[in-house]
Amino acid sequence: MQRLSSEDYNIEAVVTGTEAITWIKNHPESIVIIDYLLVDMTADVVLNSIDDQDSLVEFIVMTSIKEIKIAVAMMQLGAYDFIIKDHEFLATLPMVLEKVEQHLSIRKQLKFSVAQLQVLSSRLQVAQEEERHRIAQEIHDELGQSLTAIKLDLSWLQGEIPARLNDMIGQTIELTDRSIDTVRQISSRLHPRILDHLGLLAAIEWHIKEFNRHSPIVCRLKNKLEEVHLSDNQSIALYRVLQEALTNVVRHSGAKTVTIDLKKQANQLVMNIADDGKGVTNAQLHNFDSLGIAGMLERLRPWNGQVAITKRKRGGTLVSARLPWQQSGMVK
Ligand SMILES: Nc1ncnc2c1ncn2[C@@H]1O[C@H](COP(=O)(O)OP(=O)(O)O)[C@@H](O)[C@H]1O
Ligand SMILES: [Mg+2]
Repeated sequence: MQRLSSEDYNIEAVVTGTEAITWIKNHPESIVIIDYLLVDMTADVVLNSIDDQDSLVEFIVMTSIKEIKIAVAMMQLGAYDFIIKDHEFLATLPMVLEKVEQHLSIRKQLKFSVAQLQVLSSRLQVAQEEERHRIAQEIHDELGQSLTAIKLDLSWLQGEIPARLNDMIGQTIELTDRSIDTVRQISSRLHPRILDHLGLLAAIEWHIKEFNRHSPIVCRLKNKLEEVHLSDNQSIALYRVLQEALTNVVRHSGAKTVTIDLKKQANQLVMNIADDGKGVTNAQLHNFDSLGIAGMLERLRPWNGQVAITKRKRGGTLVSARLPWQQSGMVK
């Protein structure tokens, strides 16, 4: 210890595994040199107590020759290295420490970059949704109103012009009607107004109705929550997951039915979208070109939510979206 202290390491020693666990919780960025056999437990218990996702703790296991197999097993649990407690042990330690320090610093940079990317991705999502909302409104209001005015004028003209031109005017009115419909569809695909006025549950029901109107695949809503208290950003994020998942069902699944299950489970808002088609493959899930899937997986991260996409055992694909229930409504 004296030798390490003189190399500018800040060193603390604990005796038991229980003390080690507490110490590590309070020092989330550290290097731990640990004996396999502790007074009150073996070191694997200590390693298992660490939350992998957040921890920047590196373990070096000290082991006797007899325990090498165990040390290897500990590395599978996430330990960085092991050193054998022989007479050269003190000589090797600084070199191992240097390596582990480099490794820790790379992990720190990586963690920072991931956090930065997540912030960037969630800002981009918000900006994109604001833009879509604005364009949807403009298309709906400006273009929609102009087309309606054209239709009114045409209808008036129909009574004023010679009968031989009536057919042509009738066709133009029909074309205008179809254009009005297209404008509504484009606008609601960009941003469904029902979401702002009646909330997520109504928007989901409306989306399912539209889905059933346009697709031969039968879409059912299994459970229905009475209410959810979500912020606008959370609602639109969940809605986008549903929209992308159902688009994928139509485009790729070959399914006959798709079921949406909306429920509260273990303090989470859960939305499961399960189809009975051919099922997404692992290769497709991890393909860099799978932007729709990548977008779904990222979508709920800003609120510690998750989206998991899996192939179902009975065939088909399951998209499972979860948001912490207690947070709903609190976060913008
Ligand atoms: N419900 C599904 N059933 C079967 N295959 C799917 C399903 N959803 C996605 N896939 C597969 O995963 C791929 C990636 O999906 P996605 O990232 O949404 O991209 P895109 O829809 O633009 O092809 C699809 O091309 C398809 O092969
Ligand atoms: Mg897609």
